[in-house]
Amino acid sequence: MTDKDRLLHQIKPLEYTLLFKPNLESFTFSAEESLLCDVLTPTKKITLHAHNLEVAKASLVVNGEEHIAEISYNKKSKTVTLTFPQTLQKGQHTLDLLFSGKISNTLRGWYKSAYTVGGEKRHLATTQFEEIGAREVFVSIDDPLAKAIFNVSFVIPSHLTAISNTIDTVVAEHDGFKTVQFAPTPKMSSYALAFIVGDFEYIEKKITSGVNVRVFVTPGKKSQAQFALETVVKMLPFYEKYFDIAYPLPVLDLIAIPDFDAGAMENWGAITAREVALLVDEEQTSSANKQWVATVIAHELTHMWFGNLVTMKWWDDLWLNEGFASYMEYVGLHEFFPQWNVWEQFAVLDHNRALGLDSLENTHPIQAQITDVEKVSEIFDAVSYSKGACVIQMLVNFLGEKDFQKGLQIYLKKHQYGNAETQDLWNSLEEASGKKIKNMIHAYTSQPGHPLVQVTSNNNSLTLSQTRFYSSLLSRKNSQDTTLWQIPLSVQKPTSTTEEIFLKDVSLTVPFSDSWIKLNKGETSFARVMYDAKVYKNFQQPIEQKVLSSIDRMGLVRDAFDSAESGYLPTDNALLLAKNYTKEDSYIVWAALLGKLGTIENLLSQDALLPSFHMFVRHLLGEIKKKTTWEKRPTDSHSDILLRSTILASLTQYEDKETIAKALELFTQIAKNNKSIDTDIRGVVYAAVAENGEVKEYETLQQLYIQEELATEKNRIGNALCLFSDKLLIQKTLEFSLSEHVRTQDIGRFLVMSFGNKKGKSITWNFIKTHWDELLEKMAGIGMDWIIEGASSVVEENLAEDIKKFFATHPHPKLERTMKQVIEQIESNRDWLKRDREAIENFLSKAV
Ligand code: BES
Ligand code: ZN
Repeated sequence: MTDKDRLLHQIKPLEYTLLFKPNLESFTFSAEESLLCDVLTPTKKITLHAHNLEVAKASLVVNGEEHIAEISYNKKSKTVTLTFPQTLQKGQHTLDLLFSGKISNTLRGWYKSAYTVGGEKRHLATTQFEEIGAREVFVSIDDPLAKAIFNVSFVIPSHLTAISNTIDTVVAEHDGFKTVQFAPTPKMSSYALAFIVGDFEYIEKKITSGVNVRVFVTPGKKSQAQFALETVVKMLPFYEKYFDIAYPLPVLDLIAIPDFDAGAMENWGAITAREVALLVDEEQTSSANKQWVATVIAHELTHMWFGNLVTMKWWDDLWLNEGFASYMEYVGLHEFFPQWNVWEQFAVLDHNRALGLDSLENTHPIQAQITDVEKVSEIFDAVSYSKGACVIQMLVNFLGEKDFQKGLQIYLKKHQYGNAETQDLWNSLEEASGKKIKNMIHAYTSQPGHPLVQVTSNNNSLTLSQTRFYSSLLSRKNSQDTTLWQIPLSVQKPTSTTEEIFLKDVSLTVPFSDSWIKLNKGETSFARVMYDAKVYKNFQQPIEQKVLSSIDRMGLVRDAFDSAESGYLPTDNALLLAKNYTKEDSYIVWAALLGKLGTIENLLSQDALLPSFHMFVRHLLGEIKKKTTWEKRPTDSHSDILLRSTILASLTQYEDKETIAKALELFTQIAKNNKSIDTDIRGVVYAAVAENGEVKEYETLQQLYIQEELATEKNRIGNALCLFSDKLLIQKTLEFSLSEHVRTQDIGRFLVMSFGNKKGKSITWNFIKTHWDELLEKMAGIGMDWIIEGASSVVEENLAEDIKKFFATHPHPKLERTMKQVIEQIESNRDWLKRDREAIENFLSKAV
């Protein structure tokens, strides 16, 4: 994007003064703005960002004389052009504007959110600006590079609270209204501003440095804010120390918003989040959800430095925000919740997730190319977040934690209150460590995809060779990619201590005389490894005896299944390897393995082989089932708790009669006392009821959903509503998702879950098709990528063709890449099943 496209060439904003009068009855606002700016070249015209704003007056005083501009809008570029009667000279000017706008229901810009207090419906108004929502609320240069100071005030009814990025004072009260003025912000980007007005309660605590931390909730939820407050109070000083830069604002607010598109948003000093991502009800929130809340807090806190203090120059480098926060969140979590074993989970939640998306031809480089700002939303994905985090992890390993930390401090200090790009980070890390990293890291951030290391054994040696990995054989066949990666690989063998190999060329031969070798020990390199069938046979002992760590046992089986998908390894070989895991008891290994078995179950979902595949998986789960209790044990670790619900959910999914019977029995208790079932298994119970239930159970669950006020419980019930097998009930749920009972923020969850239902694929697809325009409008194009991603699991030919045809005739700028990814995945699914069905059949006929 050129400076001209970005409106950076004519003026440079220095300081905005904004006064808003929001009206929570008509859902409109009026505003006064004065913008102190530097005019960079003499001009009569100034173009600024403004969308859906009605500018009543734009003027400027030069030598005591007021010049009034003509106003014209460009809807497509979301701009307004002011034409002045005389040329403005270079230098500082103050532009005065009067305008009005709408408080929408699109979850973007300034929008309303609804909640009830004592049965009475109320509204609050809140903002979501990232990426380009600010231009819907004030006239600006809405670009991360155009950092400025913001002085914000509101005129609101006296009984309401206003929250913005800094600390507030009430400057005047008059006729039931008050003017609330906020201290000037530091120099910052427009996307991290927040304007929130509503009826809130809060709890607060001051940390030793003097920063006041507050957690805001809608009335009645204060007790659920405690965990968040304690977590922030612990973590904020930790990150201040880690980055060696104090948090620069006097307050840090976190606000739980009932309607919220993403999970949370890092507005500087005013972090907003959906209720499930911030609130914890000690009696009702599951352990997994509680971990999620702490994760969200850790993530958004690190953005106070990575993102807010130092901001990417342009959205191309979004990963500097999101990849970093996705890595740094673990550093804080590990510090304060060491018992959660989060680094182990990193291997599943981020490493696996990143490898998944990055195996498609239609992935993108971490350093993206954004030429149309409307398409930025597409890169808030597993590449920017999780692959970004993995690349950082590789660097930490390469540089050592100390030098890495030192490099970050240099980077943050050098660019604070300013902007940076990827190169700047490399420079600081090199400066701190004295090591060259650019060559090593280049291919991982500037190229799409990642390497597959193939290991072939010869007599007394092994040959390692690299090539780009594609999960789809069809994509691999079409590929012309010759990228070479520099791959540091830790090596584990039965006999020796860890060795290091650095694969830089196409191939490398190393001596080898052991029975097995595991490359990429710790799964810290962003690569996959595949062995010959001969070597796989020798892994039984190191897996069963746990000579390999849980992360390595997980990585081994994940890569085997992914190699099966891509046509390198026959699927029956991967299934054979899985048989070595019957004695497994690690949460992350089961989570990954069951995930992979799930993709095969999906392939077979319309196939006659399904019952025997279910039997095979039940058999794999035989040992762990014996060890899995329904009741929590006092000795249970966090991982044990996560493992329990994972195993019970799978036993239900794979139709283990005993498990289902027990779940149904527990559900009958609900009639007596809803809250009596352990929160960590309540989701499993609901799912079992739905999977095996009919109209009666449906109506019970639907009623529970409608009555429930707690977001986390609502989600659990909502998920179950998508799992019934009766087609009419699936249809009913789809219709329900667009009813007044479901918040717009939750529609996506319903549609994605319904796509995941074996019986629901074509019904869900038809529903999406027939409601396409309505969905696009309701979600304002956002979250739709997630919904259509649900279609990636389709295997059936007619459905696949229909999806392709529909995508071709319904292009959308925000969905272009996702549509390509979905089609690539669907074609790969079909090819995979065709290729290996017979091998799977043979395997299953002998498996148990
Ligand atoms: N900056 C994002 C929020 C966001 C996402 C804004 C997409 C605009 C578009 C925020 O920092 C974030 O990443 N939130 C995550 C939570 C996190 C723990 C991964 C989210 O919302 O899921
Ligand atoms: Zn983030």
